[in-house]
Amino acid sequence: MDKKNIAVLFGGQSSEHEVSLVSASTIISNINKEKYNVIPIGITKKGKWLTYDGDVENIKNGSWEKDGIPAVISPDATQKCIIKINEGKAEIIPVDIVFPVLHGAWGEDGTIQGLLELAQIPYVGCGVLASAVSMDKYYTKIIAEDFGITQARYIYVFEEEMPQIDKILDFSEKNLGYPVFVKPANAGSSVGITKAKDRESLIKAIDLALKHDRKVLIEEAIVGRELECAVLGDKENVIASSVGEIIAGAEFYDYDAKYNNDDSRTIVNTELPEGKKEELQELAKKVFKAVDGSGLARVDFFMEEGTNRIIFNEINTMPGFTPISMYPMLMENSGIAIKDLIEKMIDIALNKKASVKFREEV
Ligand SMILES: Nc1ncnc2c1ncn2[C@@H]1O[C@H](COP(=O)(O)OP(=O)(O)OP(=O)(O)O)[C@@H](O)[C@H]1O
Ligand SMILES: [Mg+2]
Repeated sequence: MDKKNIAVLFGGQSSEHEVSLVSASTIISNINKEKYNVIPIGITKKGKWLTYDGDVENIKNGSWEKDGIPAVISPDATQKCIIKINEGKAEIIPVDIVFPVLHGAWGEDGTIQGLLELAQIPYVGCGVLASAVSMDKYYTKIIAEDFGITQARYIYVFEEEMPQIDKILDFSEKNLGYPVFVKPANAGSSVGITKAKDRESLIKAIDLALKHDRKVLIEEAIVGRELECAVLGDKENVIASSVGEIIAGAEFYDYDAKYNNDDSRTIVNTELPEGKKEELQELAKKVFKAVDGSGLARVDFFMEEGTNRIIFNEINTMPGFTPISMYPMLMENSGIAIKDLIEKMIDIALNKKASVKFREEV
């Protein structure tokens, strides 16, 4: 059997560049090399594309950049190729599938997915719409609401509404009270998120969030446990993993609690009251379907203290694959070890029809 060429994209221009380097190392190390030729392509923080086929360790520590050779994926659908520019000469490398192991903006938000749709190259993970909607917390809310999925009550603020900020603050205080969570619509790794406890800190929190996006959400604070579920599949064949729990070593799971605080921990397959695991799994699949998800996603919830209500928080369409990441741990706990998981994600991508039909099939 001929080996297929798989391009693994890593790095990227977002604030989660470094997380992607570690995630991609996991993916590259665990792809079945008997079936696939791996072509790693890194994207620098500035947005330069370089192929790098040296030691995977050098991807993790960032030193790959100095040995990379310029290479891009062509948008030309008749070519389906990587164009590598080596010492002034163009080399064409055919590509069968792409695994965009990119987190955050310009990677998890539909942009790369758009390029790959245009090129008609199959790729792992969600399509353009699911990626874009899931990256934007405001649009995720609108879709979830429409599908009757329980979530924290919220209001939104657009940058252009700031001249009427007093009205917004009054409305927020009346409807949500304090404390509230203030978030930029497009965020990741808790960047720009604040828990505001009074009017003064709410104003500051909105200003901070507006530095990251022109759309901001103010949400009621949920008191409860933070739970996560991994989904894998496409259309009617989606499976949901066991349920994981995040225990933040700080007041909430902010950037520092996520990456620097040793008191933060995660529990895979956490203890839950009777029936809650199944409820959460069904909800995770429902959210995935609501955003038109495909391939994989990690869906995050709260379980409210006292009522045990399950409240949807957010969906991540390219969750982390670092050694401490919840997605691969939950899948492994559910019986799908990393090598097998990667194989399945690739198979799903190869077997799905592109969300825009290939022209010859129309
Ligand atoms: N409404 C809320 N009530 C209580 N805690 C909240 C609420 N919203 C967010 N948090 C806390 O803030 C953290 C970050 O929020 P959220 O998950 O929405 O942002 P994120 O930056 O997208 O995170 P990720 O890196 O998972 O994409 C949550 O993990 C949780 O600890
Ligand atoms: Mg989160």
